[in-house]
Formats: sequence, structure tokens, C-alpha cells
Amino acid sequence: TTDSDYSVIDDQLISSVFVPRQEFSHKGSYGKAAIIGGSYGKIGAAVLATKSVLKTGAGLTFTLAPECGYDILQTSCPEAMFIKGGEQFITNFEIDKDITCGAGPGLGTHSGTEKDFLNFLKDYSKPLILDADALNIISKDKKNLKLIPEKSIITPHPKEFERLFGSTDNSFKRLEMARKKAKDLGLYIVLKDHHTQVVTPEGKVFYNITGNAGLAKGGSGDILTGILTSLLAQKYSEEETCILGVWLHGRAADIASEKHSKESMLPTDVIDALGSVFEELN
Ligand code: APR
Ligand code: MG
Repeated sequence: TTDSDYSVIDDQLISSVFVPRQEFSHKGSYGKAAIIGGSYGKIGAAVLATKSVLKTGAGLTFTLAPECGYDILQTSCPEAMFIKGGEQFITNFEIDKDITCGAGPGLGTHSGTEKDFLNFLKDYSKPLILDADALNIISKDKKNLKLIPEKSIITPHPKEFERLFGSTDNSFKRLEMARKKAKDLGLYIVLKDHHTQVVTPEGKVFYNITGNAGLAKGGSGDILTGILTSLLAQKYSEEETCILGVWLHGRAADIASEKHSKESMLPTDVIDALGSVFEELN
């Protein structure tokens, strides 16, 4: 461990990572992204994640969700295409290889979903974003960790981290455990917290200092999943995706809180504020 392994995500780093949109470009220039999530009663999570993919600029956006979410998704996210993965919950995870996936929001942990999700992971070899119930399913057996494709990005909150890797005495020990696991498994770990930490397989740690307690509401995490999926689809590297993603998420939350207050801001307001964040960057 050296001091240089630890850094803060500052404006300078963000302007070196962010790539403005090129005038001579088309939707094919900005990748294909899919959210894999939603189940009966949790379609909202897939909606929030899908909207966040769209508002972060992916070229083509898909949602692989169960049939019960069809009308809701087509109405709330008309720009996204629907892929049917089951009836009330997802059982079929078949998806084109050229689409970048973010799996987990509202997925549920139904036994049918679990079995098919783990089979999907076994055959899948590209990096993907894994969050929420995707992580909860993986947590049920430590052997499942080996199924995660190398260079994937996992986004556990402290409880999900504990389910995946076991408990630690404090947040410093948790960070050191994350560094070890990121290295051993070849993963990027986004440790979500007040100051989210991005941990790379090389042992680097990036602290994010955007964001506020207005994010402490169900649905905030789904937005981060959408942002990350969109950036990875747009060919940012995994490290750049994590760094820019957590910063954008927090900055949008800061703008939303100025307008609506930390109490009243909703995850939807955070999605709406993404436009102002990109205006600042451009
Ligand atoms: N300060 C700054 N950021 C915060 C704060 C805070 N006080 N509280 C939360 N956040 C940020 C976190 O850093 C993270 O990016 O908000 C996001 C919260 O993400 P999650 O904990 O995943 O919350 P949630 O949106 O409820 O997740 C949706 O996934 O984790 C499961 O059980 C959860 O079903 C739920 C779903
Ligand atoms: Mg979550």
C-alpha cells in the first residue's frame, strides 16, 4: 500500500475522463445498453435504471424485464426497447452479445430467477454491471463469485458488501477487504456510502465527494446502475466508467438538492438533473 493508491475524484480528473459528444456521430457511436431487472412490484427499479441509461447518453437502450412490466416501461421510457424475459419475474436472460448489461435493479430473488441468472453468468464472458438482487443472488453461495466475468463492476451498499464477502469491524477494514477481493477476483468494486469508494483490481482507491443525504432513499442506487451501464456501453474503460459514474450521480444529486431540498428530492429529480451536469461538463 502506498499513498498514491488513494485519491479523490476531483474536477481535474473528471475533465480528463469525460469525452464530449462528437458532431459527426450517430447512435452507433454511443453503444447499446440494457438494464436487466424488474419483477412484479419492483418494475419501478427497472424504470429508474433505464431512464438513467437514456439520460447518460447511450445510443440504443433496452430493458430486459418480465411481461408484467411491459406497459409501464413502454409508457415511462418510450425511447427504450423491451425484451421479454418472463411473466412476473425474469427467467430468460438471453441477450445479444453486443449489448452492455447492467443487471439487478428490482430483479427479485425468486428461485426461478436465481437459477437462470446463475446459468446466464456461467456463459457470459464480457464485463457487466452487477447491483442489488444480482448481488444478493450471488451472495447465497461464495462459489458464485467465481462466475462473475473479469473486469465487471459490482456496486454493493454496505449490507450487500457484507453478504458477498463477510462482515468487517469498520469501514477502513471494509475498504481493505474490498481491495483484496477486487484484486483476487479481477473486479471493480464500487463501495456505495456517503463517500463512495471505487476500488480497482490494481488496488487503486478513488473517493467520490459529490452526493448528499438526499440520496438516502430507495431508488437512488438504481440510478447509479443505469449511469454506469450507459458509460460502459459508450466505451469508457471500466475504471473511467466507475470514476465518472459515481461523480455524475453525486453531482446530479447535489443539483437536485439545491432545487428540491435533501428531504424532498426524489431519485427522479436526480435523473432530471443529469442534463445540467452534462451542461457543466461541456
Ligand atoms: N450521502 C451520500 N450518498 C448517499 C447517501 C448519503 N447520506 N445515502 C445514500 N447515498 C447514495 C449511495 O452512495 C448510493 O449510490 O445513494 C445510493 C444508494 O444506493 P442503494 O443503497 O443501493 O439504495 P437503493 O436505491 O435503495 O437500492 C435499490 O437495491 O440495494 C437494493 O435493497 C435495495 O431493493 C433496493 C434496491
Ligand atoms: Mg441498491
